[in-house]
Amino acid sequence: MSNIQEKVGQLIERREKAALGGGQKRIDAQHAKGKFTARERIHMLLDEGSFEEFDMFVEHRCTNFGMEKEHYFGDGVVTGYGTVDGRLVYVFAQDFTVYGGSLSKTMAEKICKVMDMAMRNGAPIIGINDSGGARIQEGVDALAGYADIFQRNVMASGVVPQISAIFGPSAGGAVYSPALTDFVIMKKNTSYMFLTGPKVVKTVTGEDVTQEELGGASMHTTKSGVSQFAIDTEEEGFELIRKLLSYLPQNNMEDAPLAVCIDPIGRLEDSLNEIIPDSPNKPYDMFEVIRAVVDNGEILESQDSYAKNIITCFARFNGQSVGIIANQPKYMAGVLDINASRKAARFVRFCDAFNIPIVTFVDVPGFLPGTGQEYGGVITHGAKLLFAYCEATVPKVTVTLRKSYGGAYIVMASKHIRGDINYAWPSAEIAVMGASGAVEVLYAKEIAALAEKPEERAKFIAEKEAEYTEKFSSPYEAAKRGYIDDVIEPRNTRFRIIRALQSLATKRLVNPAKKHNNIPL
Ligand code: HXC
Repeated sequence: MSNIQEKVGQLIERREKAALGGGQKRIDAQHAKGKFTARERIHMLLDEGSFEEFDMFVEHRCTNFGMEKEHYFGDGVVTGYGTVDGRLVYVFAQDFTVYGGSLSKTMAEKICKVMDMAMRNGAPIIGINDSGGARIQEGVDALAGYADIFQRNVMASGVVPQISAIFGPSAGGAVYSPALTDFVIMKKNTSYMFLTGPKVVKTVTGEDVTQEELGGASMHTTKSGVSQFAIDTEEEGFELIRKLLSYLPQNNMEDAPLAVCIDPIGRLEDSLNEIIPDSPNKPYDMFEVIRAVVDNGEILESQDSYAKNIITCFARFNGQSVGIIANQPKYMAGVLDINASRKAARFVRFCDAFNIPIVTFVDVPGFLPGTGQEYGGVITHGAKLLFAYCEATVPKVTVTLRKSYGGAYIVMASKHIRGDINYAWPSAEIAVMGASGAVEVLYAKEIAALAEKPEERAKFIAEKEAEYTEKFSSPYEAAKRGYIDDVIEPRNTRFRIIRALQSLATKRLVNPAKKHNNIPL
């Protein structure tokens, strides 16, 4: 055998060894837990045969606790690049078979290398997390490694899309890298994220709580809002990432890819003329409106189980990717509260950062009153949504379907905060408040004087409410002033939005130069 043949043989041997990560026994253990290995996961995510791996031969440099005697090629993370639907992405997948995927300094260096490349080459970065946290044997070196990653997450924020999949443990400081990224996807039952685990919780607060209750996918998608998506299987998770990427540009200098649109742009949707109930207090399902107007009725909802009173989703109009924000009258009458404001604000800012036009559907009775909301700082959280819409420079198209009252009218992409094209349906009610509330305030003395005469009192209130409704519960007071560009027939909504977006394709709007803004966090 020639010298070079022997060396090629050694290379192949090394590659085969690297492919086994922490060894076959640990791979089997990983499979037994219903989890895939890091390399299997990358191959499931990327286009077939597109993966180019980096740093397969990197080894840790730790000499504490006898670590110098134990080495694995690749050291706990598989990194590299490949394509999703032909588009470049950078990827890292923590390898639980090597020290439980715990983060060493060298592992962090590998992750930082692909993050730097993603930034330089303007491509999304996808991290698959499955790790026992900081590698305990490495001490402060592991912490330094985390910090290097966090710094890059922040520098990449708003430059390239960052997506985190949590397919195993993510505990302690390890949660902060995913939390700094744009989207967090968690697999139900095998993944969890928490700062301190159940044992510490028991010691400090006395609470008995399971891992799943404390930081599982259902908790984070319904209660904390830390994760945007919960999925049942890893395969479903990769399908979701691929779908999500299809709506996004590669970086903040590009537009999202145009899809082929086979859904007629002039499609009239007669059902929309019937969808608003006669009673202003009766709900309807905003999803029916959204699905009726977007291409092929297809949407990708973010945070579908959190703050259901507001909908945030991606969709397409004539093939163009948009972010949709819509009040949902079916939940809490579509009111804005702390959670809805936070959810929608983050979504608006993501869309704006990545040149994705925003379409807003409005049916909002106002902000939720009460001590719970005020003590929780609804002023600050509501201001986040207001801030996000005000600063957004992407095309903003707004359609008001029914209620649009008070502060919520202003916040929901009104003309006054640089809404580009604002339409209303004839059923729109744009006013400071609803009729019954307004009459109670305006005629408080008269109503009090009729306290002893309930019939007269009811008649008086009904008359005044009708008067108020006649004057204010319509789109025409706003349309008279140009705050609404046109009152449109509901069934034409798809066509009108598509036209609006087409006219805004060349929109240029730049905010004043500054170091950065001071959004009310
Ligand atoms: C080194 C670790 C490790 C760690 C796991 N392993 N976590 N090695 N550092 N942090 C190793 C185990 O020794 C074991 O090695 C292998 O990984 C698999 O672990 P198991 O315990 O057998 O697996 P499992 O039963 O599935 O439990 C997984 C686990 C548990 C829940 C993650 O391993 C665990 O609790 N680990 C410690 C978690 C932790 O406290 N991390 C530090 C958090 S503090 P062998 O050789 O048997 O395969 C932190 C601070 C960061 O992260 C702050 C940054 C700002």
